[in-house]
Amino acid sequence: MKRLDDYRLKLGELELVPLVIGGMGVDISTTELALEAARLGGIGHISDAMLPTVADRRFHTRFVAKKLERHKLHLLNPNKSAVQFDLDELAEATRLHVAYTMEHKHGPGLIFINCMEKLTMNNPRDTLRVRLRAALDAGIDGITLSAGLHLGSFKLIADHPRFRDARLGIIVSSVRALNLFLKRSARIKRHPDYIVVEGPLAGGHLGFGPDWREHDLKTIVAEVLQFLRSEVFAIPVIPAGGIFTGTDAVEYLEMGAAAVQVATRFTVTRECGLPDDVKQEYFRAGEEDIEVNLLSPTGYPMRMLKHCPAVGSKTRPHCEAYGYLLDGSGRCAYLEAYHGAVANGGIDGARSLEKICLCTHMRKFQCWTCGHTTYRLKDTTRRLADGSYQPLTAEHVFRDYQFSTDHRIALPEPEP
Ligand SMILES: Cc1cc2nc3c(=O)[nH]c(=O)nc-3n(C[C@H](O)[C@H](O)[C@H](O)COP(=O)(O)O)c2cc1C
Repeated sequence: MKRLDDYRLKLGELELVPLVIGGMGVDISTTELALEAARLGGIGHISDAMLPTVADRRFHTRFVAKKLERHKLHLLNPNKSAVQFDLDELAEATRLHVAYTMEHKHGPGLIFINCMEKLTMNNPRDTLRVRLRAALDAGIDGITLSAGLHLGSFKLIADHPRFRDARLGIIVSSVRALNLFLKRSARIKRHPDYIVVEGPLAGGHLGFGPDWREHDLKTIVAEVLQFLRSEVFAIPVIPAGGIFTGTDAVEYLEMGAAAVQVATRFTVTRECGLPDDVKQEYFRAGEEDIEVNLLSPTGYPMRMLKHCPAVGSKTRPHCEAYGYLLDGSGRCAYLEAYHGAVANGGIDGARSLEKICLCTHMRKFQCWTCGHTTYRLKDTTRRLADGSYQPLTAEHVFRDYQFSTDHRIALPEPEP
Protein backbone atom coordinates (compact mmCIF):
# COMPACT_ATOMS: atom_id res chain seq x y z
CA MET A 1 0.00 0.00 0.00
CA LYS A 2 1.53 3.32 -1.10
CA ARG A 3 2.24 6.26 1.18
CA LEU A 4 2.86 9.89 0.28
CA ASP A 5 6.46 9.35 1.35
CA ASP A 6 6.98 6.86 -1.49
CA TYR A 7 6.96 9.83 -3.87
CA ARG A 8 9.17 12.89 -4.26
CA LEU A 9 8.49 16.34 -5.67
CA LYS A 10 11.31 17.20 -8.05
CA LEU A 11 11.99 20.91 -8.44
CA GLY A 12 15.17 21.31 -10.45
CA GLU A 13 17.89 19.51 -8.53
CA LEU A 14 15.83 19.31 -5.35
CA GLU A 15 13.81 16.33 -4.18
CA LEU A 16 11.20 17.16 -1.56
CA VAL A 17 8.47 15.45 0.39
CA PRO A 18 5.51 16.12 -1.95
CA LEU A 19 3.51 18.06 0.64
CA VAL A 20 2.93 21.81 0.44
CA ILE A 21 1.20 23.76 3.20
CA GLY A 22 -0.77 26.42 1.35
CA GLY A 23 -0.70 30.12 2.13
CA MET A 24 -3.34 31.35 4.56
CA GLY A 25 -3.76 35.07 5.06
CA VAL A 26 -3.73 37.07 7.22
CA ASP A 27 -0.81 35.46 9.10
CA ILE A 28 -2.76 32.22 9.59
CA SER A 29 0.03 30.39 7.79
CA THR A 30 2.68 31.85 10.07
CA THR A 31 6.44 31.86 9.91
CA GLU A 32 6.41 29.09 12.52
CA LEU A 33 4.15 26.87 10.41
CA ALA A 34 6.19 27.41 7.26
CA LEU A 35 9.42 26.71 9.17
CA GLU A 36 8.07 23.34 10.28
CA ALA A 37 7.14 22.35 6.74
CA ALA A 38 10.64 23.25 5.55
CA ARG A 39 12.31 21.46 8.46
CA LEU A 40 10.36 18.30 7.66
CA GLY A 41 11.39 18.39 4.00
CA GLY A 42 8.25 19.80 2.36
CA ILE A 43 7.20 23.30 1.34
CA GLY A 44 5.61 25.86 3.64
CA HIS A 45 4.04 29.18 2.74
CA ILE A 46 3.92 32.47 4.50
CA SER A 47 1.35 34.96 3.20
CA ASP A 48 1.95 38.47 1.93
CA ALA A 49 -1.55 39.63 2.89
CA MET A 50 -1.60 42.82 4.97
CA LEU A 51 2.10 42.65 5.81
CA PRO A 52 2.39 46.18 7.22
CA THR A 53 -0.27 45.18 9.75
CA VAL A 54 1.40 41.83 10.43
CA ALA A 55 4.81 43.48 10.83
CA ASP A 56 3.41 45.86 13.44
CA ARG A 57 2.16 42.94 15.49
CA ARG A 58 5.31 40.87 15.09
CA PHE A 59 8.12 43.43 14.97
CA HIS A 60 6.55 46.38 16.80
CA THR A 61 6.81 48.67 13.79
CA ARG A 62 4.28 51.50 13.29
CA PHE A 63 3.27 51.12 9.66
CA VAL A 64 -0.48 51.20 10.34
CA ALA A 65 -0.30 54.20 12.66
CA LYS A 66 1.82 56.12 10.17
CA LYS A 67 -0.58 55.42 7.30
CA LEU A 68 -3.55 56.42 9.43
CA GLU A 69 -1.81 59.62 10.48
CA ARG A 70 -1.16 60.55 6.84
CA HIS A 71 -4.74 59.92 5.72
CA LYS A 72 -6.97 60.65 8.70
CA LEU A 73 -8.44 63.69 6.95
CA HIS A 74 -10.25 61.27 4.64
CA LEU A 75 -11.99 59.37 7.44
CA LEU A 76 -15.45 60.69 6.59
CA ASN A 77 -14.93 60.90 2.85
CA PRO A 78 -16.38 57.92 0.92
CA ASN A 79 -13.89 58.59 -1.88
CA LYS A 80 -10.62 56.97 -0.86
CA SER A 81 -8.63 57.57 -4.05
CA ALA A 82 -6.02 59.60 -2.16
CA VAL A 83 -5.53 56.94 0.52
CA GLN A 84 -2.36 55.42 -0.87
CA PHE A 85 0.22 53.10 0.63
CA ASP A 86 3.75 54.41 0.98
CA LEU A 87 5.64 52.03 -1.29
CA ASP A 88 8.89 52.24 0.69
CA GLU A 89 7.06 51.26 3.86
CA LEU A 90 5.33 48.41 2.04
CA ALA A 91 8.67 47.11 0.80
CA GLU A 92 10.15 47.43 4.29
CA ALA A 93 7.28 45.48 5.90
CA THR A 94 7.61 42.72 3.31
CA ARG A 95 11.38 42.52 3.73
CA LEU A 96 11.09 42.35 7.51
CA HIS A 97 8.66 39.44 7.48
CA VAL A 98 10.39 37.48 4.73
CA ALA A 99 13.93 38.05 6.03
CA TYR A 100 12.94 37.02 9.56
CA THR A 101 11.35 33.84 8.21
CA MET A 102 14.23 32.91 5.95
CA GLU A 103 16.85 33.58 8.64
CA HIS A 104 15.16 30.98 10.83
CA LYS A 105 14.81 28.31 8.16
CA HIS A 106 16.48 24.95 8.81
CA GLY A 107 16.20 21.68 6.99
CA PRO A 108 15.90 20.50 3.43
CA GLY A 109 12.54 22.05 2.48
CA LEU A 110 11.52 25.38 0.99
CA ILE A 111 9.51 28.42 2.02
CA PHE A 112 7.34 30.26 -0.48
CA ILE A 113 5.19 33.36 -0.10
CA ASN A 114 1.54 33.33 -1.18
CA CYS A 115 0.72 36.53 -2.97
CA MET A 116 -2.98 37.32 -3.36
CA GLU A 117 -3.17 39.61 -6.32
CA LYS A 118 -6.70 40.58 -5.41
CA LEU A 119 -5.18 42.75 -2.69
CA THR A 120 -5.12 45.67 -5.07
CA MET A 121 -4.17 48.20 -2.37
CA ASN A 122 -5.47 51.24 -4.27
CA ASN A 123 -2.62 50.91 -6.77
CA PRO A 124 -2.64 47.34 -8.10
CA ARG A 125 0.41 47.37 -10.32
CA ASP A 126 2.90 49.28 -8.19
CA THR A 127 1.98 47.66 -4.89
CA LEU A 128 2.21 44.18 -6.43
CA ARG A 129 5.54 45.00 -8.02
CA VAL A 130 6.90 46.24 -4.69
CA ARG A 131 5.63 43.19 -2.77
CA LEU A 132 7.09 40.70 -5.25
CA ARG A 133 10.45 42.42 -5.53
CA ALA A 134 10.85 42.92 -1.78
CA ALA A 135 10.12 39.23 -1.16
CA LEU A 136 12.78 38.26 -3.69
CA ASP A 137 15.24 40.77 -2.20
CA ALA A 138 14.73 39.26 1.24
CA GLY A 139 15.56 35.77 0.01
CA ILE A 140 12.22 33.96 -0.31
CA ASP A 141 12.62 30.56 -2.02
CA GLY A 142 9.56 31.03 -4.20
CA ILE A 143 6.37 32.99 -4.88
CA THR A 144 2.91 31.53 -5.44
CA LEU A 145 0.61 33.96 -7.23
CA SER A 146 -3.01 33.46 -6.22
CA ALA A 147 -6.53 34.97 -6.25
CA GLY A 148 -6.85 37.63 -8.89
CA LEU A 149 -3.92 36.23 -10.87
CA HIS A 150 -2.93 38.75 -13.51
CA LEU A 151 -1.44 37.65 -16.80
CA GLY A 152 1.27 40.28 -16.67
CA SER A 153 2.57 39.60 -13.15
CA PHE A 154 5.77 37.79 -14.12
CA LYS A 155 6.73 40.79 -16.20
CA LEU A 156 6.73 43.00 -13.10
CA ILE A 157 9.82 41.17 -11.85
CA ALA A 158 11.39 40.13 -15.16
CA ASP A 159 14.43 42.37 -14.59
CA HIS A 160 14.97 41.17 -11.02
CA PRO A 161 18.28 39.29 -10.59
CA ARG A 162 16.41 36.35 -9.02
CA PHE A 163 13.71 36.13 -11.72
CA ARG A 164 15.10 32.91 -13.16
CA ASP A 165 16.36 31.17 -10.01
CA ALA A 166 13.49 31.80 -7.55
CA ARG A 167 10.62 29.35 -7.95
CA LEU A 168 7.54 31.02 -9.36
CA GLY A 169 4.18 29.29 -9.28
CA ILE A 170 0.54 30.07 -9.95
CA ILE A 171 -2.80 28.92 -8.60
CA VAL A 172 -5.50 28.20 -11.15
CA SER A 173 -8.86 26.47 -11.06
CA SER A 174 -9.29 25.67 -14.75
CA VAL A 175 -7.40 24.71 -17.88
CA ARG A 176 -8.69 27.88 -19.47
CA ALA A 177 -6.98 30.17 -16.93
CA LEU A 178 -3.81 28.09 -17.16
CA ASN A 179 -3.74 28.25 -20.94
CA LEU A 180 -4.07 32.04 -20.90
CA PHE A 181 -1.29 32.42 -18.37
CA LEU A 182 1.09 30.09 -20.22
CA LYS A 183 0.54 31.95 -23.48
CA ARG A 184 1.46 35.20 -21.80
CA SER A 185 4.46 33.85 -19.90
CA ALA A 186 5.79 32.29 -23.13
CA ARG A 187 6.29 35.83 -24.42
CA ILE A 188 8.93 36.46 -21.77
CA LYS A 189 10.20 32.86 -21.93
CA ARG A 190 9.45 32.19 -18.27
CA HIS A 191 7.00 29.42 -17.50
CA PRO A 192 5.83 28.80 -13.95
CA ASP A 193 7.92 26.26 -12.05
CA TYR A 194 4.79 24.66 -10.61
CA ILE A 195 1.04 24.92 -11.00
CA VAL A 196 -1.30 24.61 -8.01
CA VAL A 197 -4.70 23.43 -9.22
CA GLU A 198 -7.23 24.47 -6.61
CA GLY A 199 -10.62 22.81 -6.55
CA PRO A 200 -13.95 23.93 -5.07
CA LEU A 201 -13.44 22.46 -1.57
CA ALA A 202 -10.51 24.74 -0.64
CA GLY A 203 -10.48 27.40 2.06
CA GLY A 204 -10.27 31.14 1.45
CA HIS A 205 -11.48 32.65 -1.82
CA LEU A 206 -12.61 30.24 -4.51
CA GLY A 207 -11.86 30.41 -8.20
CA PHE A 208 -15.42 29.29 -9.00
CA GLY A 209 -18.80 30.95 -9.19
CA PRO A 210 -21.85 30.04 -7.13
CA ASP A 211 -21.95 26.80 -9.19
CA TRP A 212 -18.86 25.52 -7.36
CA ARG A 213 -20.69 22.28 -6.45
CA GLU A 214 -20.74 21.27 -10.09
CA HIS A 215 -16.94 21.09 -10.26
CA ASP A 216 -14.58 18.56 -8.79
CA LEU A 217 -10.84 18.61 -8.27
CA LYS A 218 -10.07 15.20 -9.76
CA THR A 219 -11.69 16.11 -13.07
CA ILE A 220 -9.90 19.47 -13.27
CA VAL A 221 -6.54 17.89 -12.40
CA ALA A 222 -7.03 15.23 -15.08
CA GLU A 223 -7.83 17.96 -17.62
CA VAL A 224 -4.77 19.99 -16.62
CA LEU A 225 -2.46 16.97 -16.81
CA GLN A 226 -3.87 16.07 -20.23
CA PHE A 227 -3.50 19.65 -21.45
CA LEU A 228 0.13 19.89 -20.30
CA ARG A 229 0.95 16.56 -21.96
CA SER A 230 -0.64 17.66 -25.22
CA GLU A 231 1.35 20.92 -25.16
CA VAL A 232 4.53 19.05 -24.13
CA PHE A 233 4.97 21.06 -20.94
CA ALA A 234 6.70 19.27 -18.05
CA ILE A 235 5.53 21.53 -15.21
CA PRO A 236 4.77 19.95 -11.81
CA VAL A 237 1.06 19.98 -11.00
CA ILE A 238 -0.03 20.36 -7.36
CA PRO A 239 -3.73 19.72 -6.61
CA ALA A 240 -5.33 21.47 -3.62
CA GLY A 241 -8.71 21.49 -1.90
CA GLY A 242 -10.23 18.75 0.22
CA ILE A 243 -7.18 16.45 0.40
CA PHE A 244 -7.64 15.27 3.97
CA THR A 245 -5.61 12.06 4.33
CA GLY A 246 -2.29 10.75 3.06
CA THR A 247 -4.29 8.29 0.99
CA ASP A 248 -6.26 11.11 -0.67
CA ALA A 249 -2.87 12.58 -1.57
CA VAL A 250 -1.57 9.29 -2.98
CA GLU A 251 -4.59 9.10 -5.31
CA TYR A 252 -3.49 12.38 -6.93
CA LEU A 253 0.17 11.36 -7.08
CA GLU A 254 -0.89 8.14 -8.83
CA MET A 255 -2.74 10.25 -11.42
CA GLY A 256 0.50 12.07 -12.23
CA ALA A 257 0.43 15.03 -9.82
CA ALA A 258 3.84 16.04 -8.48
CA ALA A 259 2.73 16.96 -4.92
CA VAL A 260 -0.40 18.10 -3.08
CA GLN A 261 -1.18 21.38 -1.33
CA VAL A 262 -3.16 21.25 1.90
CA ALA A 263 -4.22 23.76 4.54
CA THR A 264 -7.34 22.93 6.56
CA ARG A 265 -5.74 20.21 8.68
CA PHE A 266 -3.03 22.66 9.74
CA THR A 267 -5.48 25.34 10.92
CA VAL A 268 -5.74 23.55 14.28
CA THR A 269 -2.01 23.16 14.89
CA ARG A 270 -0.14 25.09 17.55
CA GLU A 271 1.96 26.82 14.88
CA CYS A 272 -1.07 28.18 13.01
CA GLY A 273 -1.75 31.88 13.64
CA LEU A 274 -5.43 31.59 14.59
CA PRO A 275 -6.11 32.32 18.27
CA ASP A 276 -6.65 29.20 20.42
CA ASP A 277 -10.37 29.84 20.93
CA VAL A 278 -10.86 30.16 17.17
CA LYS A 279 -9.06 26.85 16.65
CA GLN A 280 -11.64 25.31 18.99
CA GLU A 281 -14.41 26.75 16.76
CA TYR A 282 -12.83 25.01 13.78
CA PHE A 283 -12.68 21.72 15.72
CA ARG A 284 -16.29 22.04 16.87
CA ALA A 285 -17.75 22.99 13.46
CA GLY A 286 -20.34 20.72 11.90
CA GLU A 287 -20.92 20.51 8.16
CA GLU A 288 -23.99 22.73 8.55
CA ASP A 289 -21.84 25.52 10.05
CA ILE A 290 -19.80 25.97 6.87
CA GLU A 291 -21.00 28.06 3.94
CA VAL A 292 -19.74 29.54 0.71
CA ASN A 293 -21.01 33.11 0.47
CA LEU A 294 -20.48 36.28 -1.48
CA LEU A 295 -19.65 38.50 1.49
CA SER A 296 -16.06 39.14 0.44
CA PRO A 297 -15.65 42.56 -1.19
CA THR A 298 -13.29 40.93 -3.73
CA GLY A 299 -16.35 39.55 -5.54
CA TYR A 300 -15.03 35.98 -5.26
CA PRO A 301 -17.05 33.41 -3.34
CA MET A 302 -15.44 32.63 0.01
CA ARG A 303 -15.92 29.68 2.37
CA MET A 304 -16.30 30.47 6.06
CA LEU A 305 -17.89 29.44 9.33
CA LYS A 306 -21.21 31.22 9.19
CA HIS A 307 -21.34 32.17 12.87
CA CYS A 308 -18.02 34.05 12.80
CA PRO A 309 -18.06 37.65 14.14
CA ALA A 310 -17.48 39.11 10.67
CA VAL A 311 -20.83 37.90 9.35
CA GLY A 312 -23.53 40.49 10.04
CA SER A 313 -21.06 43.00 11.46
CA LYS A 314 -21.47 46.62 10.36
CA THR A 315 -18.08 47.91 11.33
CA ARG A 316 -16.92 51.29 10.07
CA PRO A 317 -14.47 50.84 7.15
CA HIS A 318 -10.82 51.37 8.14
CA CYS A 319 -9.32 52.19 4.76
CA GLU A 320 -7.02 54.88 6.15
CA ALA A 321 -5.29 52.30 8.34
CA TYR A 322 -5.74 49.27 6.04
CA GLY A 323 -7.32 49.71 2.59
CA TYR A 324 -5.93 46.50 1.12
CA LEU A 325 -8.98 45.87 -1.06
CA LEU A 326 -9.31 49.33 -2.58
CA ASP A 327 -9.17 49.04 -6.34
CA GLY A 328 -7.03 51.47 -8.31
CA SER A 329 -9.56 54.27 -7.90
CA GLY A 330 -10.24 54.20 -4.17
CA ARG A 331 -13.29 51.93 -4.25
CA CYS A 332 -14.18 48.79 -2.34
CA ALA A 333 -17.51 46.94 -2.37
CA TYR A 334 -17.74 47.08 1.44
CA LEU A 335 -17.16 50.82 1.46
CA GLU A 336 -20.00 51.20 -1.02
CA ALA A 337 -22.36 48.93 0.93
CA TYR A 338 -21.55 50.82 4.12
CA HIS A 339 -22.02 54.33 2.74
CA GLY A 340 -25.12 53.17 0.83
CA ALA A 341 -26.66 52.10 4.16
CA VAL A 342 -25.61 55.35 5.84
CA ALA A 343 -27.32 57.34 3.07
CA ASN A 344 -30.43 55.13 3.33
CA GLY A 345 -31.44 55.95 6.86
CA GLY A 346 -28.37 54.99 8.86
CA ILE A 347 -26.19 52.00 9.45
CA ASP A 348 -28.04 50.91 12.61
CA GLY A 349 -31.28 50.60 10.70
CA ALA A 350 -29.74 48.46 7.97
CA ARG A 351 -30.70 44.82 8.49
CA SER A 352 -27.40 43.57 7.14
CA LEU A 353 -24.82 44.61 4.59
CA GLU A 354 -24.10 42.71 1.41
CA LYS A 355 -20.39 42.64 2.14
CA ILE A 356 -18.04 42.42 5.10
CA CYS A 357 -15.04 44.60 5.91
CA LEU A 358 -12.47 41.93 5.15
CA CYS A 359 -9.44 44.03 6.15
CA THR A 360 -10.75 44.79 9.63
CA HIS A 361 -12.02 41.28 10.29
CA MET A 362 -9.06 39.37 8.89
CA ARG A 363 -6.78 41.62 10.93
CA LYS A 364 -8.63 40.56 14.10
CA PHE A 365 -9.05 36.88 13.11
CA GLN A 366 -12.82 37.41 13.03
CA CYS A 367 -13.46 36.13 9.53
CA TRP A 368 -13.17 32.38 9.96
CA THR A 369 -12.47 31.26 6.46
CA CYS A 370 -12.02 27.51 6.22
CA GLY A 371 -11.94 24.55 3.90
CA HIS A 372 -14.95 22.32 3.24
CA THR A 373 -13.44 19.49 5.32
CA THR A 374 -13.23 21.59 8.50
CA TYR A 375 -16.13 19.59 9.96
CA ARG A 376 -13.84 16.53 9.97
CA LEU A 377 -11.13 18.14 12.13
CA LYS A 378 -12.69 16.84 15.34
CA ASP A 379 -11.84 13.31 14.12
CA THR A 380 -8.14 14.17 13.96
CA THR A 381 -7.55 14.70 17.68
CA ARG A 382 -8.62 13.77 21.20
CA ARG A 383 -11.36 15.34 23.29
CA LEU A 384 -10.05 16.65 26.62
CA ALA A 385 -11.77 16.35 30.00
CA ASP A 386 -13.09 19.94 29.80
CA GLY A 387 -14.78 19.20 26.46
CA SER A 388 -12.23 21.07 24.36
CA TYR A 389 -10.11 19.46 21.65
CA GLN A 390 -6.41 18.80 22.00
CA PRO A 391 -4.42 21.07 19.66
CA LEU A 392 -2.03 19.27 17.32
CA THR A 393 1.51 20.02 16.30
CA ALA A 394 2.34 20.78 12.69
CA GLU A 395 4.88 17.95 12.81
CA HIS A 396 2.19 15.46 13.83
CA VAL A 397 -0.14 16.48 10.98
CA PHE A 398 2.71 16.63 8.44
CA ARG A 399 3.91 13.15 9.34
CA ASP A 400 0.38 11.81 9.32
CA TYR A 401 0.00 12.94 5.69
CA GLN A 402 3.47 11.59 4.92
CA PHE A 403 3.19 8.09 6.35
CA SER A 404 -0.45 7.12 6.79
CA THR A 405 -2.19 4.48 4.69
CA ASP A 406 -5.75 3.37 4.14
CA HIS A 407 -7.22 6.81 4.94
CA ARG A 408 -6.19 6.33 8.57
CA ILE A 409 -5.62 9.41 10.72
CA ALA A 410 -3.19 9.12 13.63
CA LEU A 411 -4.39 10.72 16.86
CA PRO A 412 -1.85 12.70 18.89
CA GLU A 413 -0.25 11.29 22.04
CA PRO A 414 -2.56 12.12 24.96
CA GLU A 415 -1.51 15.26 26.82
CA PRO A 416 -0.05 14.52 30.27
C1 LIG B 1 -7.96 29.48 6.75
C2 LIG B 1 -7.54 29.46 5.31
C3 LIG B 1 -7.07 30.61 4.71
C4 LIG B 1 -6.64 30.60 3.38
N1 LIG B 1 -6.13 31.74 2.83
C5 LIG B 1 -5.62 31.71 1.57
C6 LIG B 1 -4.95 32.84 1.03
O1 LIG B 1 -4.79 33.87 1.70
N2 LIG B 1 -4.47 32.76 -0.23
C7 LIG B 1 -4.61 31.61 -0.99
O2 LIG B 1 -4.15 31.58 -2.13
N3 LIG B 1 -5.22 30.52 -0.49
C8 LIG B 1 -5.71 30.53 0.77
N4 LIG B 1 -6.26 29.39 1.30
C9 LIG B 1 -6.27 28.16 0.48
C10 LIG B 1 -5.12 27.22 0.86
O3 LIG B 1 -3.87 27.80 0.63
C11 LIG B 1 -5.16 25.86 0.16
O4 LIG B 1 -4.88 25.94 -1.20
C12 LIG B 1 -6.48 25.10 0.30
O5 LIG B 1 -7.22 25.48 1.42
C13 LIG B 1 -6.18 23.59 0.37
O6 LIG B 1 -7.33 22.86 0.63
P1 LIG B 1 -7.65 22.24 2.09
O7 LIG B 1 -7.78 23.40 2.99
O8 LIG B 1 -8.90 21.48 1.87
O9 LIG B 1 -6.50 21.35 2.49
C14 LIG B 1 -6.71 29.39 2.62
C15 LIG B 1 -7.20 28.24 3.23
C16 LIG B 1 -7.61 28.25 4.55
C17 LIG B 1 -8.10 26.98 5.18
